[in-house]
Amino acid sequence: MSKSMNQTQYSELSLLDKSLVDKAVSMTDAAYAPYSGFLVGAAVQLKNGVVLGGCNQENASYPLCMCGERVALYNAAANYPNEPVDTLAIVARNPKNKLTQPVSPCGACRQVIAEYESRYGSGIRIILKGETDDVIIFDNIKELLPYGFDDTFL
Ligand code: THU
Repeated sequence: MSKSMNQTQYSELSLLDKSLVDKAVSMTDAAYAPYSGFLVGAAVQLKNGVVLGGCNQENASYPLCMCGERVALYNAAANYPNEPVDTLAIVARNPKNKLTQPVSPCGACRQVIAEYESRYGSGIRIILKGETDDVIIFDNIKELLPYGFDDTFL
């Protein structure tokens, strides 16, 4: 695993990080996931301190399902287009099968997080949690998406 990956516990987080994770957990209540039953909540902390949430949105046409972290990032980008993202908290719970490890963002979401790092020219901290107190923190998306595709290829 990468050097900057930090395995920790919810109880060890700063008050600011705890409240961001709490916001993400609360967003799972709004998840629309009638097909998978997998509830994902996310919260974005902008550099200006504003916090915005998101949760997964499913569709009877399965490929249209949208992940919670992308909903949160797009919510932030639509409402604060010029404000860099500082931290993204992603949590999940599965009422059918308790999630015993922190959730891992899908590849598409990693690519979208990378885009906002490029857009704002600054790293995005990523906090992951499941249904236990275990938390993993990454300093930026490069830890989760090494050698990713970006605008330097275009
Ligand atoms: N999901 C997320 O919201 N984020 C992820 O990183 C992984 C998967 C959602 C998509 C779908 O609604 C459900 O979880 C099951 O894949």
